[in-house]
Parts: sequence; structure tokens; C-alpha cells
Amino acid sequence: MRKGWMFIMCGFVGLLALTVLASEKPPSDFASAMQAIAGAQAAAATATAAEDYDAIEKHAATIVDSFLVIEKYWSARSPEVLPMVRTAAKAASDLRVSSQQRSLEGVAYSAKELTAACANCHTAHRETMPDGTFQIK
Ligand code: HEC
Repeated sequence: MRKGWMFIMCGFVGLLALTVLASEKPPSDFASAMQAIAGAQAAAATATAAEDYDAIEKHAATIVDSFLVIEKYWSARSPEVLPMVRTAAKAASDLRVSSQQRSLEGVAYSAKELTAACANCHTAHRETMPDGTFQIK
């Protein structure tokens, strides 16, 4: 009985180790695209507070472009993640359209969708390492 538990425990530990091993350091273009996305998202929020639609549009375009790098990465590595990338990219492109339409409501809505898309993917595919850096899982 005891031995059985030991085996199960070892199995769990082994699985955990595998999960950690399966995560990998992001290529530099991936990490810099994420940073560009985060910077543009923050800038778009500031522009939204100022109702500066041209600036929102510009930052949304940066996000859309940067997601192309992310999309390329996942199509080569794990195409099953692509729907998550596309949900995020779609929210960014909706943000762009809403800013062109000068719709504050549309901007607020797509910004919220975008934030949710970031969080969904980070929960599923971003691993925080003990030193505070991130890896891809
Ligand atoms: C399809 C998955 C996915 C989506 C969508 C996504 N991210 Fe990420 N993000 C990751 C992964 C995986 C990492 C870890 C690798 C890394 O740090 O580059 C990461 C890392 C980051 C980092 C840290 C970059 C660094 O310096 O290492 C930031 C900042 C970031 N994401 C911001 C965002 C924001 C803001 C959004 C939404 C607008 C977003 N991400 C959407 C997967 C995603």
C-alpha cells in the first residue's frame, strides 16, 4: 500500500519535472514583441483617457503588427495555440477600427477584450521562473 503511494508520488513529481522542462526561453523577437505589445497597450490606455483617437489607432496598429511575430512563433511550434493569438489580434484590430470610428464605447470594449486575451494566454502558456523572468510553456 505504502509502496503504491510512493509510485504515484514519483509519477507526479516526474510529471511536474517534465512540465518545467517542457517550458523554454522565449526567442528574443518573441519577448521584444510582447514588450512592444505591452507598451502600446499602456500607451493606448493613456490615449483613451485623453480621447486621442489618432494615437489609439497608432498604438493598436503596433499591437496588430507585433502579434504577427507571435503568430509566426506558434504556427511553427504549437499551432493549437493559434486561436488564442488570433483572439488577441482580433481584439487589437477591433480597437483600431473603433478608434477610426471615434467610438469611445467600442474602444473601451475592445480594450477589455484585449486585456482578457492577454490574461488567458499568460495563464495557459506563460511560466514565471523563480527569478521573475518568463518562459513559454
Ligand atoms: C498567445 C499567447 C499570448 C498572448 C495572447 C499574449 N501573450 Fe504576453 N506572453 C506570452 C508568453 C508565452 C510569454 C512568456 C515569454 C516571454 O516573456 O516573452 C509572454 C510574455 C509577456 C511579457 C513579458 C515579456 C518579457 O520581457 O519577457 C509581457 C510584458 C507580455 N507578455 C504582455 C502581453 C500583453 C500586454 C498582451 C495582450 C495585449 C499579451 N502579452 C498577450 C504569451 C502571450
